[in-house]
Amino acid sequence: MERTTFVQHIRQQEKSNPGATGEFTTLMNEIIVASKIISLEVNSAGIGENVLGLTGKINVQGEEVQKLDEFSDITFTTIIGKSEAVCAITSEEKEDPYIIPSEDNPGKYIFMMDPLDGSSNIDVNVNIGTIFSIYRKKSEGDEVTDEDLRQKGDEQVAAGYIVYGSSTILVYTAGQGVYGFTLDPSLGEFFLSHPDLKIPEQGSTYSANEGNWGIWEENQKNLVSFLKEDNPSSGRPYKLRYIGSLVADFHRTLLKGGLFMYPKDKNSPKGKLRFSFEAAPLALIVENAGGKASTGKQRILDITPKGIHDRLPLFIGSKKDVEMAESHLSATEKKGGWFKWLSG
Ligand code: AHG
Ligand code: MN
Ligand code: MN
Repeated sequence: MERTTFVQHIRQQEKSNPGATGEFTTLMNEIIVASKIISLEVNSAGIGENVLGLTGKINVQGEEVQKLDEFSDITFTTIIGKSEAVCAITSEEKEDPYIIPSEDNPGKYIFMMDPLDGSSNIDVNVNIGTIFSIYRKKSEGDEVTDEDLRQKGDEQVAAGYIVYGSSTILVYTAGQGVYGFTLDPSLGEFFLSHPDLKIPEQGSTYSANEGNWGIWEENQKNLVSFLKEDNPSSGRPYKLRYIGSLVADFHRTLLKGGLFMYPKDKNSPKGKLRFSFEAAPLALIVENAGGKASTGKQRILDITPKGIHDRLPLFIGSKKDVEMAESHLSATEKKGGWFKWLSG
């Protein structure tokens, strides 16, 4: 059986773009290298030294840094930083952007990442992943400006993620279709396994941390209550699936359809997930697969963040399911809820 490697696929795509310089292909190749290193580390997490557990540090998000968070951050930063394809790297784990020094020959792209998503699942053998997003430097001249690091979601050149799970899968889009590749561990090579992925128009699953029920707004509770109602003619009740690793919950949603949501709540009044490292890249992927991504009110890709660590509510998945969520959220919000006293 003839199999298409990731590199072959990227080269084929590049041929249909006459202005391509090869820099994008180089960058994608380096992402592959870094992801293979992390995949190996994750697979040996139980036996490897210094892989499990905490570093004892707290990151810019105020969260405890796991050893694997740090390892992934360093691995990606080192490899992508020397690729000669990027001029800056931003990471969930780093407060400030890493600007590539001139001796490392900066390139034209900007790389943003959640180096390890699902940190709370590292020690328990549950799927975790890496999410990345690529923009082009917009400003003239050598300096990387604030405008370069805070671009509208729609301006992404490409985005993708790697799930380190029962197998390691890389899913990416460069704006023309969504493609999935599975790592063959015996060869150490990613092969095309999911050509031109499309998300079902409607699913039968919802995904949310329902433990937060007591700190949700009324409109959010109403939405989930609706999904749980017994109404077979409209496909309800929906099933509940929640892993707690966005990348894995999203991957399931992409393949099977449905709705993933992380709404704002009393403890996270702006939402928990990050625009640059989580919401925007997955929004680009889901839209290219025929789905939708929204804050509940606004299309994610229409947003220009104010800061590189901005957080926001996220509703992502099948087109009809996200639209249904939006209509519930806007219909019930007028009734009020805790957000009234919170914003007052
Ligand atoms: P990270 O591990 O990169 O900090 O991200 C964790 C995120 C995301 O993966 C997941 O969807 C969500 O946090 C889980 O949050 P809860 O534990 O609040 O459900
Ligand atoms: Mn994350
Ligand atoms: Mn992370």
